[in-house]
Amino acid sequence: NERTFVAVKPDGVQRRLVGEILRRFEKRGFKLVGLKLVKASEDLLREHYWDLRSKPFFRGLMSYMSSGPIVVMVWEGLDVVKTARKMLGETNPADSLPGTIRGDFCVEVGRNVIHGSDSVASAQKEISLWFGQDELHCWEDNSRGWIYD
Ligand code: GTP
Ligand code: MG
Repeated sequence: NERTFVAVKPDGVQRRLVGEILRRFEKRGFKLVGLKLVKASEDLLREHYWDLRSKPFFRGLMSYMSSGPIVVMVWEGLDVVKTARKMLGETNPADSLPGTIRGDFCVEVGRNVIHGSDSVASAQKEISLWFGQDELHCWEDNSRGWIYD
């Protein structure tokens, strides 16, 4: 079963968007298998954003992401990686359609509220980076038959 990693960034927590974001993923029908509030260490963030280490905005991104607690979560379901990215909107909120999380709640790329894994491979990497095995929970989904054919 496919899983993705989603994080409400420090601005999302400050702006009380955690409940709204959880609500959207729950209502879509995805299954929550991991959830916690964390203050990310510099090391963890550097590893998470390793691909972006040479970008001009990297330092700003590090200080933004370490400016306060973030809420990290793992969602499971059919095509959840791709669907979550659609629910998030574009990297730049200005390009995000209304109805997406970024399209509804933010305006600038440097404060874009939420992260979502960009592929199944990065989801696997990110989940193992942010969660221990004992923090991920398998549970029987009683509405499964109403969400899946
Ligand atoms: P994430 O889901 O957060 O990984 O965003 P993304 O996959 O849509 O974009 P990407 O991985 O390329 O960039 C990661 C994060 O770096 C973005 O979400 C932004 O917070 C930040 N970022 C990307 N591009 C810029 C930029 O041009 N300027 C600034 N200030 N931040 C940027
Ligand atoms: Mg990314």
